[in-house]
Amino acid sequence: MISQASIQQIQSRIDIIEIIGSFVKLKKRGTNYLGLCPFHNEKSPSFTVSPAKEIYKCFGCGKSGNSIGFLMEHEKYSYTEALRWLANKYNVELEETETSPEFKIQQQAADSLFIINNFARDFFADKLFHSEEGQDIALSYLKERGFREEILKKFQIGFNPSGRDELATAALASQYNKEYLLKTGLVVQRDDRLADNYRGRIIFPIHNQSGKILGFGARIIKTNDKAPKYINTPENEIYVKSKILYGSYFARMAIDKADECLLVEGYTDVVSLHQAGIENVVASGGTSLTIDQLRLIKKYTNNLTIIYDGDSAGVKAALRGLDLALEENLNVKLVLIPDKEDPDSYVNKIGAEAFIQFVKAEKKDFILFQLNIALQEAGNDSVRKSAIVNQVAETISKISKTENFTQRQDYVKKVSEILRIEESGFNALVNKFIREKISKDENKAFHKVETPVIPAASEMPEEDRDVLALFQKDRIHEEAMVRSLLEFGLKDWAEGQTVATYMFSQMEETELDKMIDNPLLIDIIHTYKKWYEEGLQPTARSFLYHENQEMNSAIIHIMEVNTDISHNWKEHYEGHIATRDDLFKEEVFSTLNYLKLRKIKRLIDENQSELEKATDPEEQLICLQTHQHLKQMEIDLTRQLGTVIYK
Ligand code: UTP
Ligand code: MN
Repeated sequence: MISQASIQQIQSRIDIIEIIGSFVKLKKRGTNYLGLCPFHNEKSPSFTVSPAKEIYKCFGCGKSGNSIGFLMEHEKYSYTEALRWLANKYNVELEETETSPEFKIQQQAADSLFIINNFARDFFADKLFHSEEGQDIALSYLKERGFREEILKKFQIGFNPSGRDELATAALASQYNKEYLLKTGLVVQRDDRLADNYRGRIIFPIHNQSGKILGFGARIIKTNDKAPKYINTPENEIYVKSKILYGSYFARMAIDKADECLLVEGYTDVVSLHQAGIENVVASGGTSLTIDQLRLIKKYTNNLTIIYDGDSAGVKAALRGLDLALEENLNVKLVLIPDKEDPDSYVNKIGAEAFIQFVKAEKKDFILFQLNIALQEAGNDSVRKSAIVNQVAETISKISKTENFTQRQDYVKKVSEILRIEESGFNALVNKFIREKISKDENKAFHKVETPVIPAASEMPEEDRDVLALFQKDRIHEEAMVRSLLEFGLKDWAEGQTVATYMFSQMEETELDKMIDNPLLIDIIHTYKKWYEEGLQPTARSFLYHENQEMNSAIIHIMEVNTDISHNWKEHYEGHIATRDDLFKEEVFSTLNYLKLRKIKRLIDENQSELEKATDPEEQLICLQTHQHLKQMEIDLTRQLGTVIYK
């Protein structure tokens, strides 16, 4: 039996996206995530995970549940096995009264490594404080650098004596298994005996979230050109570098409280800042941030402040991780430490209070910082400058869509100011990258469905430049119209007229290919029309066995995945709650009119640009008249719809 306290601890850690994401490839879709259902065979994804509700649901086969239910269903785990799996994943120590034998075997390797690391940590700490060599060489060095005993003890810092095999001998005497000893990286095989790997080095133990020792960083004391400054634990069952943030065990509460995580490069930076009372700090080890590290941070805060020394390679490494951070929706700020100092030396130099003020004052926006650096490097080279414009547009396009729309627009504004370029032009460029990304994602998710043709930015109405929103709206509305036809086509519209015949007449009048961009949807409508005119009674089902696979999967997509289309625009229409079936006339009417309205909007834009080009007064007059005519049509349609959709 697992204790209730442990269960609660696990529950508070659960990230359903991460859990299900380790079995199913998930793609973000609005606030939800979508993937191919692991419980039934499908070509088009209908498996939805809602992080907000912490549940999954497949709209294809109907299976649904929470994280634990998922593990039970997918991995065929029992309830306790699922809990154990989660506890292991999130490093929660389980309090339990009995342990199953399989679990013990499974955990044995990891446990052995933890146990040896524990032993080594105690051994090293003892040597630092109680051996003559430790005190004379290591402790005095650390004290000289300003570290006080209490902070060394808190971080469990130690010393590996310089003798050949002091640790190895002690470990073997305590009956530790040689194979596991080698795996920890604490010792190496020399000739036929084990030797210490970190001889004469200061030892920084690296803790996991619950304080267990994953591995060590071992720093040389006297700089030596031949030996590396730090030796780190090799990758093993418990030390997975890409998932480690040094100091996270000690920083958790402070990060939570400050709602900000400071990221530095080195072990000593973390320890020094802690000593100065700045505790919301972790270290990356100077390499570029990985997605796992970012997610670890994101569990506690969305605000990441990177504090690096100005000319370190780490800045470049961190810049490389920026796009990932943006996609994870983190707010990234940067502080550069001047004068070849690092956070450790700088806080020792200016003191805690001044350091805090410095960070506050020097916090720079990361994207703008990157831009400024690039611009400085480019100088007057116009080719490089235009490459920069593209780069920064792409970076901005990565800012996660739905949640951070205003933030993205802010960047567009600021960046176009810095670059001294037209904001609308730059915005169009950003949107181009967003479009490309969407089509890429769409292609991956629905590889059989053709990506719809997207209107060029110049065709977009002024007020609605966000191509993404518009694009999604466009897609959704085009699909919604086809859906109306498939679903309600055979119902009566008026005396002697079905929905299908009504819709066909409307489509003819407005010209179908001016209403719908996606050629596949046009194909579907043509096919439906042909069948209908042959006296068949087509429905969505009729398409499912159609030889055209693309059409087939497009239909499944329209019918299955976009089940909340109608909700979307029911909200537009003042939130009717009646079922779609009751409201089918309204739905048909609205889907048609939305696309008609869009067509008119586009004509207005085209006419507008012709007007701008026109030089001859006669031409101008014609354009103006056309404009008035189109505007009137727009007003009429909008009035009919009872709402302004483009807003
Ligand atoms: P630094 O060279 O900045 O070291 O490397 P530091 O942490 O400031 O140490 P002190 O203050 O000189 O004693 C930053 C981090 O990069 C990793 C370590 O994690 C280090 O803390 N590193 C550096 C290595 O892993 N190996 C190395 O050889 C050097
Ligand atoms: Mn340093």
